[in-house]
Amino acid sequence: TDFQTIVVTRTGRTATITLNRPQALNALNSEMMIEVLAAAEELDRDPRIGAIVLTGSDRAFAAGADIKEMAQQTFAQAYGGDLFGAWERLARVRTPVIGAVAGYALGGGCELAMLCDLLIAADNAKFGQPEITLGVIPGMGGSQRLTRAIGKAKAMDLVLTGRQIGADEAERSGLVSRVVPLEDLLSTAREIAERIASMSLPIAMLAKDAVNAAFETTLAEGIRLERRSFHAAFATDDQKEGMAAFIEKRPAEFTGS
Ligand code: HXC
Repeated sequence: TDFQTIVVTRTGRTATITLNRPQALNALNSEMMIEVLAAAEELDRDPRIGAIVLTGSDRAFAAGADIKEMAQQTFAQAYGGDLFGAWERLARVRTPVIGAVAGYALGGGCELAMLCDLLIAADNAKFGQPEITLGVIPGMGGSQRLTRAIGKAKAMDLVLTGRQIGADEAERSGLVSRVVPLEDLLSTAREIAERIASMSLPIAMLAKDAVNAAFETTLAEGIRLERRSFHAAFATDDQKEGMAAFIEKRPAEFTGS
């Protein structure tokens, strides 16, 4: 497919979606939203793709929703068009998505990063929810996902002051899983993607779904869902292969069946 605001590349069983509006620091306009969602859903339908990397440029993952595009919206237009509601489709992608963040991840950019399953930050990454400085509030899930990711104290601090945090504070707060030098960001994210893609895709989907359930349900229900999913894993060839490979002291060859 031909995209204007993103670049999609495939390498083996992984794919990379690169946000590409450098003149606007990858500000998320509606064209980019449509393209990111179309690309992610197309890759999600492809069983050959076992993991997706979502990244931006060295200077900006994304500096937020496109302020110039939304500045004149009325309530009726924002509500009637469900402004930014479509981004939730990214949360329904079942293939693991690794966010690789360098530079600014502000507002909608930070929220887009939090829609990924796992976040790697370059040492120059800056996260923030500056919406309050524009007279609005987070609108792509930030008030919910940030609070679940880093807790009320830090989330209130960021959402009410609009201040930015660097990569180290983001890691200390639990927003990102690893910080790496900028020059290693993409190679690290791709290594993680390749490692995940070398596993059984349906099992990776079960694992992702189980972790995500922790944010949606009670402990008892979550444990039940986990145990049922664990039991279901025994219905796959990949479980037989994974355990046989361990016993035979050889690498497992998963087929996704
Ligand atoms: C539209 C943007 C933009 C944005 C940057 N640009 N961010 N355009 N929407 N969110 C554009 C600038 O207008 C400029 O274009 C070009 O990108 C380069 O930006 P500069 O400001 O010149 O760069 P710099 O001085 O390095 O400052 C970088 C920055 C700053 C600190 C990231 O651009 C900034 O503060 N951006 C806005 C960040 C923000 O508030 N994000 C939240 C958006 S609200 P021109 O053509 O002028 O040179 C949001 C809401 C989410 O995301 C959902 C709830 C409503």
